[in-house]
Amino acid sequence: MGRRTRRRDGWQHRLYAALLPRFHQRYAPLVAERKRELLGGLSGTVLEIGAGTGANLPYLGRDVRWIGLDPNPYTPRYARESASRAGVAALFGSAVAEQLPAADESVDAVISTLVLCCVEDPGAALREIVRVLKPGGRFVFIEHVAAPEGTRTRRWQTLVLPLWKRFADGCHPNRETWRWIESAGFARVRYDRFRLPMPIAGPHMAGEAVKQGAIG
Ligand SMILES: C[S@@+](CC[C@H](N)C(=O)[O-])C[C@H]1O[C@@H](n2cnc3c(N)ncnc32)[C@H](O)[C@@H]1O
Repeated sequence: MGRRTRRRDGWQHRLYAALLPRFHQRYAPLVAERKRELLGGLSGTVLEIGAGTGANLPYLGRDVRWIGLDPNPYTPRYARESASRAGVAALFGSAVAEQLPAADESVDAVISTLVLCCVEDPGAALREIVRVLKPGGRFVFIEHVAAPEGTRTRRWQTLVLPLWKRFADGCHPNRETWRWIESAGFARVRYDRFRLPMPIAGPHMAGEAVKQGAIG
C-alpha cells in the first residue's frame, strides 16, 4: 500500500513547475561551482529525489544513468528537455522521497537539491536514501536550511513558515536539515554551511554523506 500524499495535480503545481526554470536563471550561478564539485564526479546509476525540472543534469557526466523522481506531475516535461540538452540517459518517475520505487542497494548515488526542506517526513526520506544506496554509495546535497538560532533571519523564517509552506509547495525555511542527515546512519558526513544573497532562504548547506561499506 502506497504512502498517502497530498494531491499535486492542481494549477499551483503546474505554475510551480513552470516557474522553477525561471528561479534557476538567478539561482544556478550562485551554486554552479559547488554543483560542479559535488555532482561532476558521480558515476553509474544516480537517483535524484525531487528532481524538478532537471536543473542538475548539466553537471552530470554523460555516462551517468539518471533516474529523476518527483511527485509533481508537471515537472518531467521540463526535465526531459534538460536531459536531452545535457545528453544524459534519463528515466523519469513520480514518487515522494519518503517512498522510493527502487530496490535496496541499487544505486551508486542519490542527489537532493532544495528538496529536504519540502518533504513531509525528512526521517523517512533519509531512511529511504540509505536503503537504496549501494554500500559505499554517496548522498550528495545542496539544501537551504534554518539560520542559526537567535538570529533575525531565523525569527523571520519561523514567522513566515505557515504562508511560505502554503505558497512554496510545503517548504520549511527553518528546517535544521543537518540534524536529519547527521542522524541518518551514514558512515561519513561532510558539509559546509554558507549563505546566499536571498531573503529567508539564504542559509544553505552543501556536502555529501557516504553509506557504510566498500565503494562500489
Ligand atoms: C524547490 S524544488 C527543487 C527542484 C530541484 N531539485 C532543483 O534543485 O531545482 C522542490 C522539489 O521537491 C519536490 N517535492 C516536494 N515534496 C516532495 C517529497 N515529499 N518527495 C520528493 N520530492 C518532493 C517538488 O515537487 C519540487 O520539484
